[in-house]
Amino acid sequence: MAPTPNPSISLAAHPVGYPDLGKDFKYDTSATIDVDSGALNGGFLTKTLYLSVDPYMRNRMRDGGLGGWKLGQLFEGFGISEVLRSETDQYKKGDILYGTTTFRAYNVWPASAPFRVLHNTENIPLSVYLGVAGMPGKTAYYGLRAIADPKAGESIFVSTAAGPVGQLVCQLAKAKGLRVLGSAGSDEKVRFLLEDLKIDAAFNYKTTSTEEGLKKFGGIDIYWDNVGGEMLDAALEAMNKFGRIVLCGHISMYNVKTPGERYGIKNTYSLLYKEVKMQGLYVTSYEEKYSDEFYATVPKMIAEGKIKYLEDVTEGLEHAPNALLGVLKGDNVGKAVVKVA
Ligand SMILES: NC(=O)c1ccc[n+]([C@@H]2O[C@H](COP(=O)([O-])OP(=O)(O)OC[C@H]3O[C@@H](n4cnc5c(N)ncnc54)[C@H](OP(=O)(O)O)[C@@H]3O)[C@@H](O)[C@H]2O)c1
Repeated sequence: MAPTPNPSISLAAHPVGYPDLGKDFKYDTSATIDVDSGALNGGFLTKTLYLSVDPYMRNRMRDGGLGGWKLGQLFEGFGISEVLRSETDQYKKGDILYGTTTFRAYNVWPASAPFRVLHNTENIPLSVYLGVAGMPGKTAYYGLRAIADPKAGESIFVSTAAGPVGQLVCQLAKAKGLRVLGSAGSDEKVRFLLEDLKIDAAFNYKTTSTEEGLKKFGGIDIYWDNVGGEMLDAALEAMNKFGRIVLCGHISMYNVKTPGERYGIKNTYSLLYKEVKMQGLYVTSYEEKYSDEFYATVPKMIAEGKIKYLEDVTEGLEHAPNALLGVLKGDNVGKAVVKVA
């Protein structure tokens, strides 16, 4: 059998500000792989089906960033892969796997590589296991469960509400009997929040200030912060007594050129006088405790139509850099995934 092309995406330069499509990524088509008989050395061979592009990747591209990638290193991220051949009992031919993979069409893994076999008895589209049924959905589920402590009758404000984290936070909060306010960066996203997710109120933060949006809605018991900066400051001001703030993301500052460009929060006095709790969330910390519960709950709710989702699918590995830039600039409408095969 002729060698099969095995294209990949790697880091060519550390970006300054927003990633530069012409400079910071390398799409390499020179490698090939013998899919039928190449050595597995006791491991297994996978074909990449879908890849997730996520905001955290911008931090991995930073020079010296936390868990940062080295120049020339393959991009890594959550993906859905199919096992083509296996020499380990752990995974068998045809298994569909979820887990961290490389941005490459085919990969040979050692037997110890940690993946979750997706049985998908709910029969939902596989790409959804990268969105509301994947890492972003887990972020929403775990953060509500472990930090936000939502109670019926309370109110919650969710920023970046139309993304996969926000979509699930909004819907789980609504199902629990909370009043939900969402913000997003376009009228199309606001319409999705109001008409499809049926949350109570939503505004386009590019045409309505967060202060105004919050004033109209009234005080909030929970702020789900996907943005940081000025929006967090405005939310601090609008918190009710004994409110909770979940610090989930700071996307307004991921692309600053220097740390000095980051926004300095002014309204922390609110934490003091209103006895508000503010806590950071890191999804991986809760994986062991809540992942079984998550997989038993969320895919079923999606299959039953109780959880809706919106995806933004890009076709072709070579377009993954554009998809990532789109996420960082807010061009994605729904969960950004790349269909590789
Ligand atoms: N803590 C954790 O463990 C964890 C895990 C997963 C995700 N996160 C964080 O959760 C947040 C949402 O993630 P996601 O996967 O659901 O992303 P997403 O919504 O699919 O994509 C990012 C969105 O951020 C918004 N955005 C971009 N620049 C912005 C700016 N300057 N100000 C305000 N909004 C901006 C854009 O939406 P608009 O059109 O609405 O501006 C963009 O579509 C991110 O901050 C991410 O880093 C945290």
